Amino acid sequence: ELKGFAFDLDGVIADTAKFHSQAWHQTADKVGTTWTPELQEALKGVSRMDSLEMILKAGGHENDYTQAEKEALAAEKNENYGKLIATLTPDDILPGMKAFLDELVANGYKLSLASASKNAPKILKYLGLTDYFVGIVDPATLHAGKPDPEIFARAAEILDLPANQVAGLEDSSAGIESINGAGELSIGIGSQLKAAKVIFNSTAEVSLANIKAALAE
Ligand code: BG6
Ligand code: MG
Repeated sequence: ELKGFAFDLDGVIADTAKFHSQAWHQTADKVGTTWTPELQEALKGVSRMDSLEMILKAGGHENDYTQAEKEALAAEKNENYGKLIATLTPDDILPGMKAFLDELVANGYKLSLASASKNAPKILKYLGLTDYFVGIVDPATLHAGKPDPEIFARAAEILDLPANQVAGLEDSSAGIESINGAGELSIGIGSQLKAAKVIFNSTAEVSLANIKAALAE
């Protein structure tokens, strides 16, 4: 029986996946990597430095930059991203998600956050959602990011629940792999997430009733 939910943030709760893509697109242009829809999709859920490595590799530039130069590129991306998210307000919560969070809390479920983003606490504050969560996994303390199961395993520990009582919500394939690897129930937002146990086309469809209906099928 489900007792807790571990949430991804970017692209699940907040409409911020587009801002990450926008800022990384600028980085790709700068290093001379062609920006494609496939690259954009593959970067979802991936940590800042791993994302940069993927962008460099996609253009065959993985050996063209020193560690210090890579750190400067990542810092520049984060600065650009920071300007984009500074405009966030509770209106930028994705459709249906405020209602779903309220429904979960009203029904006694515990919530934690499993976002790869170091900007997550700030974004939750902008959205006015900080108090919904028992805790947030600090991605700086992880040995490996998504698709490794560690982040979702840690999200269950924060909830003090065994994996089989936790559901994870994700919009990225890396995240779904992480949830599945942790032994939790994977809920995917996006029809391309074939490895998810439950799949919704958009956040607007996510509700306890719809999850139960999908599991009963
Ligand atoms: C994930 C996003 O939530 O966080 C990725 O899906 C992003 O696109 C990653 O790269 C790391 O975010 P940040 O804010 O720490 O650079
Ligand atoms: Mg995401």
